[in-house]
Amino acid sequence: SAPRPTDLVVFGGTGDLSMRKLLPSLYLLDRDGHLDPGTRVIAVSRDGLTDADLRGKAEAAVQGHRAVRVAEPAVLRRFLGRLSHITVDVGGDASGWADLAASLAGPPEPGRDRVFYLAVPPMISGAICRGLADAGLVTPDSRVVMEKPLGRDLASARAVNAEVGEIFSEEQTYRIDHYLGKETVQNLLVLRFANVFLEPLWNSRWIDHVQITAAETVGVGGRRGYYDTAGAMRDMVQNHLLQLLCLTAMEPPASYGREAVRDEKLKVLQALEPLTGDRVRQDTARGRYGRGTVQGSEVLGYLEEPGGPADGTTETYVALRAEIANWRWAGVPFYLRTGKRMDRARSEIVVRFRDVPHTIFPGAATGGGSLVIRLQPDEGIHLTMLAKVPGAGALRLRPVPLELSFADTFATRSPEAYERLLMDVLAADSTLFMRRDEVEAAWRWTDPVIAAWADPDLVPETYPAGSAGPAGADRLIGRTGRTWYEEEQPR
Ligand code: BG6
Repeated sequence: SAPRPTDLVVFGGTGDLSMRKLLPSLYLLDRDGHLDPGTRVIAVSRDGLTDADLRGKAEAAVQGHRAVRVAEPAVLRRFLGRLSHITVDVGGDASGWADLAASLAGPPEPGRDRVFYLAVPPMISGAICRGLADAGLVTPDSRVVMEKPLGRDLASARAVNAEVGEIFSEEQTYRIDHYLGKETVQNLLVLRFANVFLEPLWNSRWIDHVQITAAETVGVGGRRGYYDTAGAMRDMVQNHLLQLLCLTAMEPPASYGREAVRDEKLKVLQALEPLTGDRVRQDTARGRYGRGTVQGSEVLGYLEEPGGPADGTTETYVALRAEIANWRWAGVPFYLRTGKRMDRARSEIVVRFRDVPHTIFPGAATGGGSLVIRLQPDEGIHLTMLAKVPGAGALRLRPVPLELSFADTFATRSPEAYERLLMDVLAADSTLFMRRDEVEAAWRWTDPVIAAWADPDLVPETYPAGSAGPAGADRLIGRTGRTWYEEEQPR
C-alpha cells in the first residue's frame, strides 16, 4: 500500500539505536520512495538539542552507515528536513509534553498517522505512554513500537506490557525483534512453506538435531551499563534465538496473517521442555570473554570494558540444548548458542539430517546432510549432501555443497532489518512483531535458567576474545556424540 503521511515520534531519539539503526534505515526508506512527502520524524530526548544539532548528528549517522555508503545529497537534504528535536523530561515537568503536543499540532488530520517509537529502557515505557495519554496525543489509530529487551524477566515484562496496555491496545502495539526483519529469516518461511520437498522431512523422523548460532566479533562496546543488567541470555537468547527456533519448528500456519503466524510461534514456545534443576547444569554453558585478539587487534576482556565493575557474573556467551515436547520434535535437540568477541561473525540455522537407515555403500563415508540457512554474512542457503568422488577405483563418497547466495541470485541489495520493520510499522502490519503472549512465554522459559545460574558453580567460564567460545559448549553438545557445525573448507 502507498505510504501514508506519518508523524514518527522517537523517544530515545538521539540514542545509540536511533543513530545506528533507525535514522539510517529511515534514510534508506526515504531514498527508495517509501516515505510519504509529508512524513516527519520527531526525535525526543532529554538532551536539549536544537533541530540543527540533531540534523548534524543524523547526517553523520547516515553517512557512516555501511548500507548507505555515500548518501545522495538531494535525498539527504530532504530526509534531514523531516527531522526535528523536542526535549521532554519524561518524569519531570509538563513543559516538554506541551512542546511535543505543539509540534504535533492538535489532532492529526484524517489520513495522517502517529507512531510512537520507544527506543528507551523498558522501565520508562509505561511513564511515556501515560505522558502521551495525559497530553492528549494518543489517537485511536496511533501505534506504539517497543524495543527489546522487554523487561528482564516474566514479572517485569508483564508489568511493562500492562502499563503500555492501559494506553495502547494489543493491535496498536508493535514489539520489535529485529531478527524477524532479516531477509533470510523471512525466507525461512518461504523455504519451508512455499516448497514441497522440505516439509515431509521436517520432523524427528528425518532430522537429527538443529543448531542455531548467532556469533559476533564485536564486544559490548559502549553498552556495558545495559549489558551488565542483561547478559547474553536476555540480550540474545530470550528474543532473537528463540524467535529463530520458533520459525524453524512451527507448524504451517493457515495463512501468512499476523495472528496465524504468531499463534504457531506461541505454540512452539509453550511446548518447550522446561530447563530446570540438574538439566541447567548439563544442558547450558555460559562464558565471558577475557582479553584476546579479534581479527588481528588486541581487545580488552569483558570485565575491563569501561562502564562497569571489575567483577560480576554477566555472561557474554550462552550455549544450551532446548527440546520441544510435541509430536513433530520429541527427541530432537535444538542447540542454541550466541557469543560476543568470537573468532568470526556468523548467524545461521543448521538443520542436520539423520543418517540413512541402511547404507548400501559399506565402508564409504556416511553421514546425514545438513541444510544451513545463513542469516549473515553472505545471506544464503547451503545444502550438504554426499556425492561420489569421480574415479574408476573404489567407490568413495564425500560431502559436497549446493550453494545459494541471495546476493548473486537476485543481484539486489537486501534491506536492513530495521528498514523492513519500520516500513511494516508505517503500513500498520504487525505480522513480523511479537505479540504479548509470545514475549511472556519466552520469559517463562528463560527465567528458571537465569535463576539456576545464581549457583556459584555456574559462573561463566572465561574464553579468550577471538576464540570459538568456552569449552563447556563443546562438552554440552559432545555429551551425545555431536559436534558444532563448521562449514567444510574448500578442498
Ligand atoms: C541486539 C543486541 O538486539 O542484537 C546486541 O542487543 C547485538 O547486543 C545485536 O549485537 C545483534 O544484531 P545483528 O543484527 O548485528 O545480528
